[in-house]
Amino acid sequence: MQVIGTIAELRALRQQLSGAVGFVPTMGYLHQGHLALVRRARTENSTVVVSIYVNPTQFGPREDSAGYPRELNRDLDLLHSEKVDVIFVPSDAEMYPPGFSTWVDVENVTERLEGASRPGHFRGVATIVTKLFNVVRPSRAYFGQKDAQQTAVIRRMVADLDMGIEIVAVPTVRESDGLAMSSRNVHLSPEERRAATVLFEALTLTRELSRGGEKDAEEIRQQMTSLIQKEPLARIDYVSIADASTLEELSFIDRPALASLAVTIGKTRLMDNMPLE
Ligand code: PAF
Repeated sequence: MQVIGTIAELRALRQQLSGAVGFVPTMGYLHQGHLALVRRARTENSTVVVSIYVNPTQFGPREDSAGYPRELNRDLDLLHSEKVDVIFVPSDAEMYPPGFSTWVDVENVTERLEGASRPGHFRGVATIVTKLFNVVRPSRAYFGQKDAQQTAVIRRMVADLDMGIEIVAVPTVRESDGLAMSSRNVHLSPEERRAATVLFEALTLTRELSRGGEKDAEEIRQQMTSLIQKEPLARIDYVSIADASTLEELSFIDRPALASLAVTIGKTRLMDNMPLE
């Protein structure tokens, strides 16, 4: 396993690689959800590259990239156990050198849900992922279904800019009570951790309603909302029943749809989603 800090070194190494390269971009503080991406990449590629970089430009003015949890040595041990070949751990100066002024803006799909709640977030994500793609030049890149909108944005960008990279969405890994694994879960107190299961309960209700033949999206949104409102520690940011690829809200479910929600428990904003067949 090689740990590389500069773009120049990574480029030099990339030139020597033959065969498919699978890439897993991360912000570190790895959990089982990240490891599921790495394992999938390991089975499908000759070389696996993982990046660990807390990208400051995808955090909003009221969010704190400096406070993002970090545990590099633990992350490196985990990736070593997963037989990752290359780990790219660049500095801010490497990724955003003085004079940096080029941004990637994906329209439409970024304007809703997370994009509406966190203006500028997807511009930061699309820019850093483009830069990482340019350096790593992967055959495939792996993203979690948990961040369904991020995956939709990256798919759009890769298609629009003809990047020629296969985007693989890997199913969400959950705790035994259904809570989606996330680096943010560490911020929950025991009482908040219990309350956080309301997200999965709301999504399970949605799936049951949908499987039972309910097609009225507003009816489903209302039922999700009233279930979450019964949890005193939960504050709803959004509940959504949307077209699975454009994320436009639906009034009637007549195509592949995505149920998604963002809920703040205490001070921790959690999000989750479930595809509706
Ligand atoms: O999903 C994440 O961890 C980040 O948004 C990503 C894709 C690594 C870009 O910084």
